[in-house]
Amino acid sequence: MALSDGVIKVRLRAIEYGVPGINLYTFESLDGQPLPAYEPGAHVDVAMAPDVLRQYSLLWPAVHPTQYRIAVQLSEAGKGGSRKLHFESVVGAEYALSAPRNHFPLRPSDEAFHLFAGGIGITPLISMYRQLKASGRSVTLYYWASSPQHMLFHEQLCHEQDDVRLFHTRTGESPPRLNDVLATLPDEAQLYCCGPQGMVDEFDRLTQGRPEGNTHRERFSATTDALQPGDSFRVTLQRSGMTLTVPAELSLLQVCEAAGVDVAYSCEEGVCGACEVRVLAGQVEHRDTVLTPGQRQRSESMMICCSRGVGEGLVLDL
Ligand code: FES
Repeated sequence: MALSDGVIKVRLRAIEYGVPGINLYTFESLDGQPLPAYEPGAHVDVAMAPDVLRQYSLLWPAVHPTQYRIAVQLSEAGKGGSRKLHFESVVGAEYALSAPRNHFPLRPSDEAFHLFAGGIGITPLISMYRQLKASGRSVTLYYWASSPQHMLFHEQLCHEQDDVRLFHTRTGESPPRLNDVLATLPDEAQLYCCGPQGMVDEFDRLTQGRPEGNTHRERFSATTDALQPGDSFRVTLQRSGMTLTVPAELSLLQVCEAAGVDVAYSCEEGVCGACEVRVLAGQVEHRDTVLTPGQRQRSESMMICCSRGVGEGLVLDL
């Protein structure tokens, strides 16, 4: 794995308890200079060891221009990134981050915004909520978690008025479901969703008939077929002047690296967007979770860590 988009050296300034299984981590620049600015929805790669690189949403607004803050959920089923932060991180230690990257930005619209968060999916959405509120926009945040004690930012959000709806799924009540809420919203509404895979899948299913530009989602995990072998294919790298064969068991990214082509990447499973490359010609089998259905159809770009070409004619701007 490699940090892309430049490397920012920071110090871990503080670790705070959030809710069971979720801590908040604040990083600050080493030289007291402001860190690169970002908008709600942005994330950074955090390098926790040479081979451990993970993506986390940045909380907005930053407490101070020299600081970044992220929330990290301990994942027993994960690949060890969250365990490293939860059990091995030490305040004062230095970390390397990527520059912020945003594949889940707020799109300008005059319509009302509705934000749907599940669990740790609150982190990009509370940032959007705060920005929209600060600019006087019409916004409603719907947030599902098992109980108030498991709801990150519960205290702050409790003080908001009608435009925050907090739903607890394990307190004996029957809270409204995503379906119940979506059914009340007009097609023009701007909808954003971030949460567990099942929730985002459900959001996609329920919003299928709405205009594509009005529905936006972010996923944390790869699709099941993202890293499966596929058919062998040929690719021409226009700028490098090479034609390569990608065998069934390797990714396009791996083949480019082996050929000495300089490529940016991070998650290597199709969720971060770091390896996006422009497609100049040819057919693509998209396997990432970054592109929208419309972007997949237009196929103007692809994530080379997981998506594959079909047949012989793929040409990339690489
Ligand atoms: S490296 Fe993250 S999408 Fe490809």
